[in-house]
Amino acid sequence: MPAINWYPGHMAKTRRMLAENLKMIDVVVEVIDARAPLASRNPDFDDLFSGKARVVLLNKSDLADGNATKRWISSFNRSGIEAAGVSATGGSAKKTATALIEQAAKPRVAAMKAKGVNKVVRCMIVGIPNVGKSTLINRMAGETRAEVGDKPGVTRGKQWVRISPYLELMDTPGMLWPKLEDQTLAKHLAFLGSIKDEIMDTEELALELLLLLQSGVPAQLSERYGKLTADTPEEALLEAVCRSRGFLLRGGGFDTERAAHVVLDEFRAGKIARITLEQPEARV
Ligand code: G4P
Repeated sequence: MPAINWYPGHMAKTRRMLAENLKMIDVVVEVIDARAPLASRNPDFDDLFSGKARVVLLNKSDLADGNATKRWISSFNRSGIEAAGVSATGGSAKKTATALIEQAAKPRVAAMKAKGVNKVVRCMIVGIPNVGKSTLINRMAGETRAEVGDKPGVTRGKQWVRISPYLELMDTPGMLWPKLEDQTLAKHLAFLGSIKDEIMDTEELALELLLLLQSGVPAQLSERYGKLTADTPEEALLEAVCRSRGFLLRGGGFDTERAAHVVLDEFRAGKIARITLEQPEARV
């Protein structure tokens, strides 16, 4: 498979803007994908965020392996970072996130209180594309968001949404870019659809994913695609999906491209299995 490179424009500009915004922030809320906590977190930003209170939200935990998410949370806690599994599309994300942010801001709030100031904590959500930043902001901001935006004289783009009496959230997320030097981790992001499919050959990508699922969750894979078993050889995996779904080409043969798209789509939607691609034990 060819190397995955990803050089978004304006990287330096984005970094400068992020640094500028950070001046106003008490707590940085890093959103990562619970299915790939290593790949979806750019360690280069550690220095940019140093000195800030930080929390990590493992989002899309509805799609990840629950036990792995628990172990990831412990792993972050051991490095002194508050962390929680959330599902921005679910019901309790706001409550969980708010509690965690307030916990992380406690020392600063207490220090200000000692000076007689009731500190309003300001936080910002940051993360690489597709981890669920916007969904989470919408979930946390709810209806108050529109109200704030409607005020005359309020510039769009940098607004604060009040989450609780002493907590405000910046209503635009801080965009980070993924670190793609490690090809295994880059592939994980491709499996999740977090880097563009066009960079890679779809059938090759789906085939790699099928191999991984065949060794990791063979029973669930067979349940989804009946003709695919733990013994199906690599060269017959996509064909087995075709046979399971009746993806045949008009002139004969199998529509393996269609099968590849279906496998990727169904995996991304969590229809094959709840799975975490990286374990905390592998963290460096
Ligand atoms: P971003 O701002 O970080 O780029 O991510 P965004 O909120 O746009 O979310 C990316 C996709 O992930 C969206 O799906 C969103 O619905 C989905 N998503 C976000 N959080 C969760 C979660 O906790 N669980 C699950 N299962 N999905 C989540 P989409 O298909 O791109 O858009 P849409 O069909 O929802 O409109």
